[in-house]
Amino acid sequence: ASGGEVHAHAQGWNHKGLFDALDHQSVRRGYEVYKQVCSACHSMQYIAYRNLVGVSHTEAEAKAEAEQITVKDGPDDTGNYYTRPGKLSDYFPSPYPNEEAARAANNGAYPPDLSYIVSARKGGEDYIFSLLTGYHEAPAGVVLREGQYFNPYFPGGAISMAQVLYNEVIEYEDGTPPTQSQLAKDVATFLKWTSEPEHDDRKQLLIKVIGILGFLTVISYYIKRHKWSSLK
Ligand code: HEM
Repeated sequence: ASGGEVHAHAQGWNHKGLFDALDHQSVRRGYEVYKQVCSACHSMQYIAYRNLVGVSHTEAEAKAEAEQITVKDGPDDTGNYYTRPGKLSDYFPSPYPNEEAARAANNGAYPPDLSYIVSARKGGEDYIFSLLTGYHEAPAGVVLREGQYFNPYFPGGAISMAQVLYNEVIEYEDGTPPTQSQLAKDVATFLKWTSEPEHDDRKQLLIKVIGILGFLTVISYYIKRHKWSSLK
């Protein structure tokens, strides 16, 4: 291969089946990865702390997460701006004030907002997993500019994001061994949820719809047999 694009391998996600919910423990660990690793460079401006409630965190836990950030607010009654701890209604903080600052800190490349990245990229969560675990030495003949790394899953092969996931780069609070592939799987599951927060509700609705249609089929069959039973 010569730096050309390689397609992501399909992983055995346990949310792939028609009726399968997301693994919420994995979403929770993925949030830890996002917070401790990705959020240093990427924003997630469409997700608020309240969105975590009932998905990966209890209300008290989500509140505690929010309180760890500092939010600029105002103006107050006297026209002043001030800072305060985050609340459930606050959105995740952005690491840079604007795109210019983000590019300046990343060799000119822009770390995209990750809220909807799984829907925005071909390959979805498979692409995220492959990208994060797919860094290699550049093959002979591939020329990388300053600050670029070789990753066959990134279109063109030269990406301005260094490898960020290594075995044990963070610790999980639930004690799951934080291998590189575990970290990548969990953050990809988390990003699947942020891109498609209605995922579980949609599948649950399908189960109800199938149940109701089945029920109606049985009823109508019975009525038909009953009503027509006097006719030969
Ligand atoms: C690009 C994910 C951590 C800097 C990207 C892309 C994804 C991604 C999906 C987009 C690739 C594309 O356009 O198809 C993640 C995840 C992280 C993480 C899940 C945490 C596990 C970081 C960190 C930094 C960073 C810590 C900075 C030190 C960048 C930059 C780009 C980028 C500069 C743009 C690359 C380019 O366009 O060449 N990241 N990232 N990322 N990321 Fe990250």
